[in-house]
Amino acid sequence: MPKFLLIHGPNLNKLGTRDGKHYGLTTLANIEKLVSDEAKIYDYEIKAFQSNHEGALIDFLQAETPKAAGIIINPGALTHYSYALFDALVDANLPVIEVHLSDIKNREPFRKNSVIAAACIGQIVGKKEIGYTEAVQLLVRHIKNYGRD
Ligand code: DQA
Repeated sequence: MPKFLLIHGPNLNKLGTRDGKHYGLTTLANIEKLVSDEAKIYDYEIKAFQSNHEGALIDFLQAETPKAAGIIINPGALTHYSYALFDALVDANLPVIEVHLSDIKNREPFRKNSVIAAACIGQIVGKKEIGYTEAVQLLVRHIKNYGRD
């Protein structure tokens, strides 16, 4: 079965205990199950990974992207400053959807900018966990219409 990578950055292992107003009440395990169930509908499987370390996320991308069809990523705060993650996503040469649980456009000013957005075919913000099921649908539609790139 073709595979999507589902990647989470720093502090997202704490979902369920973080500020529910911004991030909802769902745990990361629940989000991974939600995405996996949604992907199965379209005959894709999910390989999920979370790390609090920028380098570990990049190592995972380098190892796994050659075997994947697309990427769903919520990089946490790395969204706002990690040019290394941006480069790794460009190098992946796969369709990427950026997801944020909270509405990063309407929070502290430093959250407004995403340095990884230019490596992505879409960005979904502020829809809590529902954003992830939309991301699966966008990836599937994109691959159907344009292939992997
Ligand atoms: C987040 C938004 C980021 O600004 C923040 O650092 C996170 C989570 C979100 O999903 O809304 O950790 O990516």
